[in-house]
Amino acid sequence: MKTSDVRADIPLLEDIIYLDAASTTPTPRPVVEAMDEYYYHYNVNTGRGTYALSLKATEKIENTRETIAKFFKASSEEIIFTKNTTEAINLVSRGFNFRKGDKIVVSNMEHHSNLIPWLNLKKCGVEVEIVKANPKGVVNSSDVDDAIDKNTKLLTITHISNSMGAVQPVEELGKIALEKDILYLIDAAQSAGHLKLNVKDLMADFIAFPGHKGLLGPVGTGFLYCDQGLQEKMEPLNLGGGTVDDVSQNGFLLTSCPNRFEGGTQNISGLIGLGEAVNYVKRIGISDIEKHDRNLTRILYKRLKDLEGITVYGSPKNIYGIVSFNIDGINPHDLAKILDETKNICVRSGQHCAILSTEHLGAREEGGTVRASFHYYNTLEDIKVLGDCLEEISNFGR
Ligand code: ALA
Repeated sequence: MKTSDVRADIPLLEDIIYLDAASTTPTPRPVVEAMDEYYYHYNVNTGRGTYALSLKATEKIENTRETIAKFFKASSEEIIFTKNTTEAINLVSRGFNFRKGDKIVVSNMEHHSNLIPWLNLKKCGVEVEIVKANPKGVVNSSDVDDAIDKNTKLLTITHISNSMGAVQPVEELGKIALEKDILYLIDAAQSAGHLKLNVKDLMADFIAFPGHKGLLGPVGTGFLYCDQGLQEKMEPLNLGGGTVDDVSQNGFLLTSCPNRFEGGTQNISGLIGLGEAVNYVKRIGISDIEKHDRNLTRILYKRLKDLEGITVYGSPKNIYGIVSFNIDGINPHDLAKILDETKNICVRSGQHCAILSTEHLGAREEGGTVRASFHYYNTLEDIKVLGDCLEEISNFGR
């Protein structure tokens, strides 16, 4: 599929320049249509009824599980549906009874969703060591290696920093985790649907995924990859309907994995949409998405780097899909507002729910950064309009 074909499926792009894929992506028409079809023609609950419509809805969401699993080279039992990446990470942080004496190693480039759930364990006596990235925002494997000691139970890292796009050495860290025999979690919020991912190559025990970013699915969807052996050891976060096989006055018998982790009525339309979205990404082609995103990243980085009065964060060799910047003397929220009001450019500004990382970049006190992030629907023209506009603003009053 060409970029123009994808744009034709996303009417909202007619009026705006949308450069906030790292927050969420607009939903292509076939995904919305799949959800509409559910609402209009088989809007019933899953996993409960024996009537045909209920079986159909159940089959549809199980098809999504299968589609996701195939796309990431996992098996369908290894995919647990969640409402977002954050919930997937919380499932792990709460699921293993981490306690006093245990240690968790994490980086300072994390989104709060992969930091707060771990910091929260400090109240149970868990030690949390935060490894600092290098000035380019990339964590050195040797620093992580040094931080791991005999008490370390889990290492976790974001694949791509959401605040400035730095790609982390996830495979190298996977080898370290394997060698040290500790659990390993990757936050794939900014890489899923942008880079070709194979869960086996990543060597992680857990990978937390969003449905609504790179995969072009609806908001309210996400999932956790986790192998079956570990699922058996993990406590569910959300017990209730659909999570047990039997109940007595004295207790209950959990149902099999992964359903025991999916308590209550699911986001059925969202999950149906997510299956359609993964198929849509497959139709575009993940290699084409990667080539496209890489090109836009490189071009925007270079354009901004050449402008006076603009700081661009990270190094072009290490960033992917995201370019984060500031104009001297302008608050990032003000700059984002100017871009919106003058050219209908949508970018995120501020601390990006990743305060330790903006602090690391030296941008915390300035109010964070402005962040442009892309997907396959973005064009060279989008990047040019942004670059021209920033050039004009940075020259103003000079
Ligand atoms: N995690 C999303 C972002 O970085 C919301 O903007």
